[in-house]
Amino acid sequence: MQKSAYVPFFHVGRLERYNSYQQKNPNLSWLDVITHVNIGLDQAHYSNVQLIDNPSELTVLVNKYRQLSDGYEPKDLETIDQRFNPDGLKLRHYARVAFEKMCEDALAEGISLKAVSAYRSFSYQQEVYNRYKTQDKTEEEYQAIRDKVSARAGHSEHQTGLAVDINDLEESFADTPEAKWLADNAYKYGFILRYPKGKELITGYNYEPWHFRYLGRKLAADVSKSGLTYDEYYARFLLSR
Ligand code: DAL
Ligand code: ZN
Repeated sequence: MQKSAYVPFFHVGRLERYNSYQQKNPNLSWLDVITHVNIGLDQAHYSNVQLIDNPSELTVLVNKYRQLSDGYEPKDLETIDQRFNPDGLKLRHYARVAFEKMCEDALAEGISLKAVSAYRSFSYQQEVYNRYKTQDKTEEEYQAIRDKVSARAGHSEHQTGLAVDINDLEESFADTPEAKWLADNAYKYGFILRYPKGKELITGYNYEPWHFRYLGRKLAADVSKSGLTYDEYYARFLLSR
């Protein structure tokens, strides 16, 4: 694409950042340069963090540049049906209903889906993140590893009550019939795979074939069809600032 072509998500105030990012990444298309800078990827993770002002919208984007306040807790959390999680895990109403329907339909095809993690409060996320400290490495050594697998408190989609981890938190899950069914069908129920393979530099996380995010059926279908991560899709089509 020519630099002069009209790009609706081009922000003129970011021209210097676009140019300097392009110089550092000469192989990227101009469209990707704009998209990446809009996400914030020209700056270090967890720098230039913005407090999210629409935490309860179904479209909310949470990532390493966008943080939920420590007090944010969704108002419509509901317990997932025991058949699909015996531990009382919770999701927001619409996500819970969609998740259960997805599990029921999958089961009718011989595919067994269970939630293994769903809503996590700010303080619980902090605990999850800090668990990685106990192992035999220095804080600095673990920081980089941990940041690829776990979000810092306030930066996890799990705090929105719209994200659910399904069945197995191992990359080998990707090779199971359950993961394949999810990859093919989740969007029909309003869920997207949030941390895809090959997009690690964009999401900032390792591939997570088990982590699904509820967006509602229309948006999930659009994002899925686009082949973009939600970070990219948001930076192109939903970000107004
Ligand atoms: N594992 C995902 C990125 C989280 O901690 O929210
Ligand atoms: Zn997750």
